[in-house]
Amino acid sequence: MRDMAQIRNIVILSGAGISAESGLRTFRADDGLWDDHRVEDVATPEAFRRDPDLVQRFYDERRANIMAAQPNAAHHALARLDREWPAELLIVTQNIDDLHERAGAGRVLHMHGEGLSAWCSACDARHHWTGTLRDKPPCPACGARALRPDIVWFGEMPYRMDEIFAALSRADLFVSIGTSGAVYPAAGFVEQAKSCGARTLELNLERSQGSHWFDETRLGPASERVPEWVEDALGGRPC
Ligand code: APR
Repeated sequence: MRDMAQIRNIVILSGAGISAESGLRTFRADDGLWDDHRVEDVATPEAFRRDPDLVQRFYDERRANIMAAQPNAAHHALARLDREWPAELLIVTQNIDDLHERAGAGRVLHMHGEGLSAWCSACDARHHWTGTLRDKPPCPACGARALRPDIVWFGEMPYRMDEIFAALSRADLFVSIGTSGAVYPAAGFVEQAKSCGARTLELNLERSQGSHWFDETRLGPASERVPEWVEDALGGRPC
């Protein structure tokens, strides 16, 4: 157990599990999104070329769910940590929802894109988007009807990987919250951080596929485990 006095730079990786208690479905649970949607049908560039209407409908529904959701105690605890942590902190989220930001966190990086963003494949502009895309609305910048969800699909490169690896190389503590460790490159961040000397902590409902890489795993709902950990971290107690 490393004393918090020795911890300066923190990288936090969050996954769908942190937003589960806000009513947003995870992917691989029994009632997960991938239980009634095939990845090949809704989350690849090939799927979008083949059936853009099906893909747009899938993300239109997720966008509506995101807007109907509210941040939970885990999001609020991380926002508090973001406000009060004196040194480097980066919340790298795999989630496309904006619940970290709506809870007040600023140091957030969406590596898989954002549900409330539309990306024009004609002029490359991105637009904050709360409506639907299936009705092919014109791009506010160029007028082309070429807007797609600003989401990193399977087979596409996640966003801002250089920044993420730079932060991992400086991290003293890597904390993973609500992710199954099933999808790379995110699932490899713990190994990366560990190889750079970071202490590693997992907060999850159940052990993930990468649990063996973590110095410590604390099981339970994020709305309980995350506020506890943040209290420890800010209280200077070993964590
Ligand atoms: N509190 C904490 N953890 C939870 C909770 C909760 N309330 N509910 C579920 N979990 C955990 C599950 O035990 C599981 O390990 O969250 C994890 C969710 O795993 P996935 O559904 O696989 O989601 P995630 O890891 O975020 O998926 C990674 O895969 O489908 C792609 O691009 C998509 O970003 C996503 C990536």
